[in-house]
Amino acid sequence: MYQKEQQRQLFDLSKKLLQQTAEADQAAAKETTQQLHQVLHFHEWKYYIQNDPVISDFEYDTLFKKLEAIEEQFPELKTPDSPTQRVSNDLTNEFNSVEHLVPMLSLDNSYNAEDLKDFDERIKKRCMLEEDSDVEYVVEPKFDGGSIALVYENDVLVRAATRGNGTKGEEMTLNAKAMRTIPLRADFSKHNIQKVELRGEALIEKNNFDKINAQRAKDGQTLFANPRNAATGGLRTKDPSETAKRGLEAFVYQLGFAANENGDNVLDKFSTHNEGIEFLGQLGFKVPIVERKVCKNIKEVADFCKHWEAKREGYNYEIDGMVVKVNSLTLQEKCGYTSHHPRWAIAYKFKAKQATSTLETIEYQIGKIGSITPVAKITPVQLAGVTVSSISLHNEDFINSKDIRIGDTVLVERAGDVIPYIVKSMDDLRDGSEQKIEFPKECPGCQTPLIRAEKEAAWRCPNYQCEAQVLQRMTFHVSKDAMDIDGFGPSYIERFYELDWLKDIADIYQLDYEAIAQLEGFGERSASKLQMAIDKAKQNPIHRLLHSLSIHHLGKKASKLLAQEINHVLDLQNWTEEDFTNIKDIGPVVAENVLAFFNDASNIELLKKMESLGVNLVQTDDDKPVQVSADAPLAGKSILFTGKLLKMGRKEAQELATLNGAKNISAVSSKLNILVAGEKAGSKLKKAQAVGTVEILTEDEFLKLIGKE
Ligand code: IVH
Repeated sequence: MYQKEQQRQLFDLSKKLLQQTAEADQAAAKETTQQLHQVLHFHEWKYYIQNDPVISDFEYDTLFKKLEAIEEQFPELKTPDSPTQRVSNDLTNEFNSVEHLVPMLSLDNSYNAEDLKDFDERIKKRCMLEEDSDVEYVVEPKFDGGSIALVYENDVLVRAATRGNGTKGEEMTLNAKAMRTIPLRADFSKHNIQKVELRGEALIEKNNFDKINAQRAKDGQTLFANPRNAATGGLRTKDPSETAKRGLEAFVYQLGFAANENGDNVLDKFSTHNEGIEFLGQLGFKVPIVERKVCKNIKEVADFCKHWEAKREGYNYEIDGMVVKVNSLTLQEKCGYTSHHPRWAIAYKFKAKQATSTLETIEYQIGKIGSITPVAKITPVQLAGVTVSSISLHNEDFINSKDIRIGDTVLVERAGDVIPYIVKSMDDLRDGSEQKIEFPKECPGCQTPLIRAEKEAAWRCPNYQCEAQVLQRMTFHVSKDAMDIDGFGPSYIERFYELDWLKDIADIYQLDYEAIAQLEGFGERSASKLQMAIDKAKQNPIHRLLHSLSIHHLGKKASKLLAQEINHVLDLQNWTEEDFTNIKDIGPVVAENVLAFFNDASNIELLKKMESLGVNLVQTDDDKPVQVSADAPLAGKSILFTGKLLKMGRKEAQELATLNGAKNISAVSSKLNILVAGEKAGSKLKKAQAVGTVEILTEDEFLKLIGKE
């Protein structure tokens, strides 16, 4: 429908309009109005038809509000074809178009507590309530899926449709029937309701979404960008078995229409929105329960919204905000509607997780084993409240599979604490000036030709002396995961390296503390603190030392396994591949890399130098395998910790469990014996309860069980 070039122009025009300040006169306003019509239509098409938005919801809303503001100032510019005069359009010719019993409207948006307060004030004005009175609201999630309307007649589901343009939608009754959370029959007639229309949202659980994509990857199909796309696609597929396969679910959140056998409106059976939802819940519909709250006033509303914004990532459905509704239906009626949204409801939108930006350039980072990681430098954008300007592109295959180019407009996402990533490049917005990314053939640090081992994703610099690598190795050596030298961070490493005090990791153990005390920003105290931390690290168990050497593929776990088998680190010089692979959980790849390390004379020299400087190379008690007796309190049991523990950290708890004979596992299934539920335990607890055979303990009960009250 839109040519590529036109898409680029409309995108640029949108960005320009977003920057533009208020119009001086009617002529200027008229031009802007036309432009806004154009760009809003375009973005609706991208969002609803193509499922491929190129601007954020926030930007769309800003443009929409700009148009509303102009129309308010110059009412003669408000024409019937204005995007403010109708709701979005997703009709295609694939399905029967059906008319909704009552229009499905949109929602007005708010973004902070201030906006909510304004909303509350508007409600009180409309309802002619005292300024200091409290209005009761219901707050529920704003589900981010595909909206649906369900019609029941004489207790039977007779029709289901998508939202369409708000007045007419696409019929998808067969697909709705394939969704198990939608009852095919419900007892409305018992309550003298003969015909109803319900509003809801079709969704896919995040867990389920991951499984679907994993399967699609296996089958060589393109992956869905997010659960919403998987859900809306599943709603509009021609094949109901596909809807069923994707495990679509539907939450119902609104009673749109209800009539008795004479055709009279009987919505007034209920005095509040909440009663209506409870009623639907009792009839067997999936309605928000813990996610819904009746709030006494707007302050409680704001708190509940913030609470859910923080919880959003841990929730198993995608939500992009909360919806705030006046609870009393009498008050709702007093508020009424605009052509676009009900005046008695508002969406509270969470901070955007996605944004578009431009990929400016690529930098290449060199890791401790020489792996080259491409990092995209993008024009800084705000994502869920954080400024993002660098994003890892992982490796060459990732770049190629997503066809990412320099100069591209990219869609960036940051979910919770997860590191930001590039969802995709917008190839529709290219103008030809974008450059393909040429992955370097030589190390950007030392110019050694890069190598890529079979079956490995990363290109590596094979030069062990490569300066960038040496620095990374030293930084890793002192880090918490490795030798855990307290207070010794990357900035010290860089500084000492520049002073020529550090050439290899052994030099860390012969630093001149008197010289350090003289450095700017140091002093006697910090120098002696550092000395103490380094002296302490010299006594570390050898599994830490092995891990700290940055041997490719030798992780924490394998280091522990090796440390159990040797008296002295240098014993490994005499090992054969078989000696390694005889150890359960150690494979040929680890063997090969450790062998190569210990066959290199310079490495042996390095270790000997470290030993002469006082670093422990002999197996300690900490390195020996834990002996668990058969009568240990948790012998043979599998265990999982969930929620917040108050008396110990998660890791500590897991270690305690291991010491007492248990095996830590990561998911709830019938194989799980014990679940320790801390504060605010969520879905895992529910699942464990559902499994039925899992013993559920509190933190205290767990401690008591292992005799550690
Ligand atoms: S109420 C007349 N409640 O958000 C009331 N809508 O922008 C209007 N949505 O497409 C809708 N969760 O599908 C309502 N708890 C919720 C919702 C919700 C998601 C969707 C709805 C509509 C869009 C409105």
